[in-house]
Amino acid sequence: MIESPWWKRTTVYQVYPRSFSDSNADGIGDLPGVIERLDYLRWLGVETIWLSPFYRSPQTDFGYDISDHFDIAPEYGNLADCRRLIDEVHARGMKIVLDMVLNHTSIEHPWFQESRTGRSSPRRDFYLWRDGRRPGGAAPPNNWRSMLGASGWHYDPPSDQWYWASFLPFQPDLNYRNPAVKQAMLDVVRHWLREGADGLRLDIFNAIYKDASFANNPFSLRPLPSEHNPDGFFQQARYTQNHPDTIAFARELRTVVDEFTDPPRFVVGEVFGHSDLLREYCGAEGQGLNLVFLFKSLRTPLTAPALRELVQEFERTFPEPLFPTYVFGNHDRPRGMDRLGNDPARARILAAFQLTVRGVPFLYYGEEIGLGHHHGMPHELARDPIAARYRFLPRWLLPSLRRRGILVNRDECRSPMPWDSGTHAGFSTGETPWLPVHPDSPLINVAAQREDPGSVLSSYRRMLALRRHSPALSDGALAIIEPLADPRRVLAFARLHPRETARVYLNLSDRELPLDLRDAPGIRLHSNLHDPPEPATGRRLLAPWEAVVIFDTAEFAS
Ligand code: GLC
Repeated sequence: MIESPWWKRTTVYQVYPRSFSDSNADGIGDLPGVIERLDYLRWLGVETIWLSPFYRSPQTDFGYDISDHFDIAPEYGNLADCRRLIDEVHARGMKIVLDMVLNHTSIEHPWFQESRTGRSSPRRDFYLWRDGRRPGGAAPPNNWRSMLGASGWHYDPPSDQWYWASFLPFQPDLNYRNPAVKQAMLDVVRHWLREGADGLRLDIFNAIYKDASFANNPFSLRPLPSEHNPDGFFQQARYTQNHPDTIAFARELRTVVDEFTDPPRFVVGEVFGHSDLLREYCGAEGQGLNLVFLFKSLRTPLTAPALRELVQEFERTFPEPLFPTYVFGNHDRPRGMDRLGNDPARARILAAFQLTVRGVPFLYYGEEIGLGHHHGMPHELARDPIAARYRFLPRWLLPSLRRRGILVNRDECRSPMPWDSGTHAGFSTGETPWLPVHPDSPLINVAAQREDPGSVLSSYRRMLALRRHSPALSDGALAIIEPLADPRRVLAFARLHPRETARVYLNLSDRELPLDLRDAPGIRLHSNLHDPPEPATGRRLLAPWEAVVIFDTAEFAS
């Protein structure tokens, strides 16, 4: 029987390098810091690490504004550190995913600097420059809005033209209709794959192509965009996002990625839209992006019916050879613990769900210890460039936006990783970390949880090990188990693999519930709450928020 490619079986842990571990006491996390923590990640049991960008950049958007794709920002280290990181990850049998910001560069990138010297610059056409509707900066070329709501056109007085930026004004979009641009960016992709990246995460991939007509976007009634509909700010994103040429480009990019076969590589796209559109990025036969983030999981309530519906939708939309992803947080979103009422029991069951369902789990650093959202970051002092743009928003609006998954101060989810209860939670020995540590860090930190079998960390580690050793959990098909005695409280599914079957029961309630295994016994039962497996026969109670996995084999089939 043919095993799925490694990237379908893996588990991914996102490191935000600036906030992970500071090795040189400047208050900023760095690559040597990440290297120092690799043994921890290996101990935890994650298999792949994705790092947010660490390339040379003015850091106005903390690395998502690149000024040199082939160099490292000095605050994070140098090229030698980067190579050492890649080697050290591989030496531990793990894989590494790098962030690729293909859509735009920094305004400080030499291409843009040259492009803006004038209309006849040889690099003018590397970016999207247009005349305004009236001369003199009075009216932008059309009505297109950026992803953040304001017009995405920015006026350049010397040339009396406007450049387009899908995100912030200092992140001008590249012009992929210029073959030289596409070639140059595919060279960046090849460069990092050659350097040893096992996968690439594609930043706002859905914005790559803009419509060549530059026609106005049609009117829409929607005030705000969401995960499944990028229309918002009262216009459809018809000509600015999810362009058919971007979907075609996904396939082209895949052929480049597939040039690298030892090991095979993969790309995961940050794209927004309804599931059918997201599937198009992957291609019906899986010939596009290997994976796309399915952000719907970020906002799904932690109840059995809601999770069942989510799984059914993802299974319907991403059948083999396609494959879903499960994400509960990242460096742009409210931390998952916020939605869980900071309840460790809920954090443990969410982990059990994420690590037993069919799909690649993406964990965000700190989730494994139940790190909370940092509500105390003062908006006025925010480092996040988005916060400054939304300074005018009344404070009372922020919680409701947060509930919709929208963060206007992303500092709140980027606080330093709490390693221990010491100064700055062990993140830095410097004077001041770049962001304040979470006030709960003295209690919620790695050292405090490592030896405690009941901790969130131990539960993650237990479930990661279970998944890693189980062909069914890492590579099996999924079938919902129905009917159930209590479908409103319990979610149950089977993971089916020729070598073993695993049945998963998740008690998504704070009640004890009976689990009757007399008609469907198994051999071993593993709980997310404690270690040694139990015999899986007879009757048993499911503790509140407990997950159990029942195998039909005595040992893991290897
Ligand atoms: C993506 C990144 C975000 C960044 C933006 C612009 O959404 O995740 O952090 O600010 O793109 O590159």
